[in-house]
Amino acid sequence: MKFFIDTANLEDIAQAESLGVLDGVTTNPSLMAKEEIRGQQNIFNHYKKICDIVNGDVSAEVIATDFEGMVKEGEALAALSPQIVIKMPVISEGIKACKYFSDKGIKTNVTLVFSSGQALMAAKAGATYVSPFLARLDDISADGLGLIAEIRKIYNNYGYKTQILAASIRSTMHVINCAKIGSDVMTGPLSAIEGLLNHPLTDSGLSKFLEDHNRNTSKF
Ligand code: G3P
Repeated sequence: MKFFIDTANLEDIAQAESLGVLDGVTTNPSLMAKEEIRGQQNIFNHYKKICDIVNGDVSAEVIATDFEGMVKEGEALAALSPQIVIKMPVISEGIKACKYFSDKGIKTNVTLVFSSGQALMAAKAGATYVSPFLARLDDISADGLGLIAEIRKIYNNYGYKTQILAASIRSTMHVINCAKIGSDVMTGPLSAIEGLLNHPLTDSGLSKFLEDHNRNTSKF
């Protein structure tokens, strides 16, 4: 499973990259706003900085909601780096734009996916990635993991190449569950990635190893 980090924070991206396990980055307008990046030129510069840190795909979301606007924004974003993946919402104009970019060989990420029907449309439009939002479904007492399993089944039935990018991941257990289901990619915060390493028996075992080593050494 590929690991993407879901943030526009350069320090978190660099920290995840330093572990050597990072395959890419996803951003969205809310994450960009959180870093207080305003104005087109600053936004473009920020995407370039992200591309310099990570050796992998970087999703950059369009703001326009009409086809022409999405194409204009997407083309400008794609020109920044071959790492850029154009991210668009799963609305009819977004599906048209996804098809447009797919036909041109530009990578796409269809986002805000909450149903398998939407995921099917994204695959039909040739999306590189489809982003079902796991925790946001759980937030409304729906079944986020169930949706990812359903999309996995549908894509397997027809051999769709679109990669399932499990988004709205908030915890380490979400990452494990997505891996069990067969999600191609997960995107989550740094805490969910680093959390995979945590186990109290690892900590106590390491302390004991070091304690025993030091006691043994002091005899000489
Ligand atoms: O990138 C979109 C998605 O990952 C958002 O996550 O935590 O805001 O639901 P969240």
